[in-house]
Amino acid sequence: MSINYRFPENFWWGSATSATQIEGASEIGGKGKNIWDHWYETEPNRFYNDVGPETTSDFYHHYKEDIQLMKQIGHNTFRLSISWARLMPDGRGEVNEEAVTFYNNVIDELIDNGIEPFVNLFHFDMPMALQDKGGWESREVVEAFAEYAKEAFRLFGDRVSKWFTFNEPIVPVEGGYLYDFHYPNVVDAKRAAQVAYHTAVASAKAVEAYHGSGQQGKIGIILNLTPSYPRSQNPADLRASRIADLFFNRSFLDPSVLGEYPQELVDIITEHGALPATHQGDKELLKANTVDILGVNYYQPRRVKAKENLPNPYGPFLPEWYFDHYEMPGRRMNIYRGWEIYEKGIYDIMMNLKDHYGNIESFISENGMGVQNEDRFLEGGEIQDDYRIDFVREHLKWLHKAIQDGSNAKGYHMWTTMDNWSWSNAYKNRYGFISIDVETKERTLKKSAHWFREVADNNGF
Ligand code: BG6
Repeated sequence: MSINYRFPENFWWGSATSATQIEGASEIGGKGKNIWDHWYETEPNRFYNDVGPETTSDFYHHYKEDIQLMKQIGHNTFRLSISWARLMPDGRGEVNEEAVTFYNNVIDELIDNGIEPFVNLFHFDMPMALQDKGGWESREVVEAFAEYAKEAFRLFGDRVSKWFTFNEPIVPVEGGYLYDFHYPNVVDAKRAAQVAYHTAVASAKAVEAYHGSGQQGKIGIILNLTPSYPRSQNPADLRASRIADLFFNRSFLDPSVLGEYPQELVDIITEHGALPATHQGDKELLKANTVDILGVNYYQPRRVKAKENLPNPYGPFLPEWYFDHYEMPGRRMNIYRGWEIYEKGIYDIMMNLKDHYGNIESFISENGMGVQNEDRFLEGGEIQDDYRIDFVREHLKWLHKAIQDGSNAKGYHMWTTMDNWSWSNAYKNRYGFISIDVETKERTLKKSAHWFREVADNNGF
């Protein structure tokens, strides 16, 4: 087979997961409750088909089998997250020994099978005991996170050398404090700004702790970078896209990589009286503790235009005061999920990192295609997901071009290893290389898994 797109040596081929979405066992193994357990208990109707976080692929009990499957898919790397509430049921203090055993087993099993574990500390799953104390609105929780991070480095850092503080930290801000799709379902820009700020400080504290630990690996953050494309080059459209970019990309990208907030964002937040409370020394902390590596999650572009109408002055202030969403004529869609497909977005992100963020070491940490009712593509006992193969191939071509043009991208991780429980969407959209029968827990590789194996083996296609 001739290889037209060859990737650099030692390229990371793999996939990503998160604890709450795959582990199951939410009530056993000494785990404390997190916000998802709590929200599901109180409002099961907010979840697709009323399916909650107990119903997953049960990685907790199937991790050995799953790691064998990862091997079959050609993985040399794999991202998991630690469930904070499993490791520390109260969020602080006592460590749950059963959790230590579980994560040790998973890490050792991965390494024994030639798969390097990438470990993320927080993927949307705040321990309930800490949410009761105010969650990310509370400075106490920032300190608790730093302690938790230190404990994780101490327990697992002898074998894990790629750490991540947060996955998509803007999402709990959007979901929990602006647009009502995560607990605690608050709509309040000032509180959202506080949550975002505390998350950035917590991340910097974990970076500081890691760098001070004497361990030799790298620590980073994973951001969903969604390029904001303006409808036109009209200054009003350009301003709309610049501001959308400030809210949704630069709000974490700048403090994490450059160690400071963009002044224009600070000015807008100030104008709306939403500036968060800070502590003395925070500025210096952020400046001194930027990340070593950046994970980029990319699914779809954000297209915006200038506002058609003035915002309602009596309504709550939201980022949408500054832009409207724009549906580009002729756009290509993932019709199954309702998201635009725009592969070049990957290239644009990588060039932005190269030109404005010191070409920081990076990788695609999530990219993938969600499909509803995917079993309609079942044929001969296997999901024939040619649409997913096309999707990944086309994105990889643009990633390859970015590398040719000087991007410091080191790998590509698919979202996700196996079909998983996706928050309030539960099992609606399937993303995995591995299809899961939610009832029997039976695992079957999809066609894309075999294709990916070949790509990984050939280090290209
Ligand atoms: C990503 C998240 O942004 O989107 C994942 O990191 C999530 O945790 C994925 O599962 C897919 O989301 P959805 O809404 O299509 O199920």
